[in-house]
Amino acid sequence: MDYERAKLFLSQRGQSQLLDYYDELDEEQRRILLDEITNLNFSVVKNIQNNSEQKKTGKYKPVPAKSLEDIEKNRKKYEEEGIKLLKEHKVGAVLLAGGQGTRLGFDKPKGMFNIGVTRQLSIFEQLMNNIKDVTRVTGRNFPLFIMTSDVNNDETVAFFAENNYFGYPKDKIYFYIQDKEPVCDFDGKIFLSEKHRVALSPNGNGGWYSSLINSGLNRVLEREGVEWLNVFGVDNVLQRICDPAFIGATSLSRCFCGAKVVKKTCPEEKVGVLCERDGKPCIVEYYEMPPEFTKKYNRKGELSYRYGVTLNYLFNVHVLNATISWKLPYHLAKKAIPHIENGALAEPEEPNGYKFETLVVDMVRFMGNCLAFEVDRQKEFAPVKNKTGVDSVDTARELLKINGVEL
Ligand code: UTP
Repeated sequence: MDYERAKLFLSQRGQSQLLDYYDELDEEQRRILLDEITNLNFSVVKNIQNNSEQKKTGKYKPVPAKSLEDIEKNRKKYEEEGIKLLKEHKVGAVLLAGGQGTRLGFDKPKGMFNIGVTRQLSIFEQLMNNIKDVTRVTGRNFPLFIMTSDVNNDETVAFFAENNYFGYPKDKIYFYIQDKEPVCDFDGKIFLSEKHRVALSPNGNGGWYSSLINSGLNRVLEREGVEWLNVFGVDNVLQRICDPAFIGATSLSRCFCGAKVVKKTCPEEKVGVLCERDGKPCIVEYYEMPPEFTKKYNRKGELSYRYGVTLNYLFNVHVLNATISWKLPYHLAKKAIPHIENGALAEPEEPNGYKFETLVVDMVRFMGNCLAFEVDRQKEFAPVKNKTGVDSVDTARELLKINGVEL
């Protein structure tokens, strides 16, 4: 797009501010800016008007889960099926490591955080140890895709290399950078991060599959014949990755998707809850859950909506491919966004605009069905979200010790 076209195009969309410094730019900078404008997803800002309509309506129902007891009874059968699929190279894993970990207040990729006490044990190393627990049993290394963001990619890749990939074969690890969306002020005016650059931000963890495809890694899935992807967050240092029982139970149940869930400790616990909305699986964030549901109990005296998600999902690749063109909803996150203002970089401390994020929890609904697979939170749920208090480094260390991990 040349300057005249860009000017018209932007004025029609109320985004003329993106050319405010055009006259000051050299030829190369002008080219970069016009290229960015050409490739920008302007429609994302429409979500500011639509967001109030995004409130989830419909008929909610609690979902049944494969309970710990059910799983124990059938463990052998599930594990055999899972191990078979792993041995046939039909399973891969995706580590979501593109987040900024602001709550932890650590200025490097969250996976580099040291959860050791007397020795160095990074979150990444602990997760790789969890992976190796499985590969020791199956005798096969599965492909591990690691999604980073522009902001933390180089440090993450270098950290894995420095640590010799934590003993995992390097050729089975595939890093990719997640896609970005523009960021804007509260009126929907897109910011510049430099006079010749549009301000962009990672598009949330729901972009994991489209970003994987955009980076060309679907050729690995096709080459290896991967049919299932176990997607997991960086936070939970106790989680089992490519757990054969989980894979086997999901596959045998003929579901297209599985979610590892834990029983909530109390109605107010801040976890998303897996339930059903209008007959389809749905994850409702704790702040979206109507109070009458949060505190609802069944006849056995259990919370009706009791299964919290742990950000460990299994997705069927064929169904992902069939639904990839369906648009995930954007969630608006109010953030303090550095931007160019009056010709200089402004770095606000208070939120001044929106980032647009899609969430992996919304993908579950597209899959049409989902097996809720209960895990013991003492053994498999130790998220490192905060510096102190609930779901913090301290609580995670306690749980790691209980589970025999030397710190
Ligand atoms: P969180 O929702 O905890 O966000 O991410 P965060 O950015 O890591 O942490 P806070 O909220 O700033 O403290 C859950 C998982 O999704 C990944 C994170 O790396 C984590 O594994 N994630 C999040 C991405 O991969 N990309 C994103 O854009 C956001």
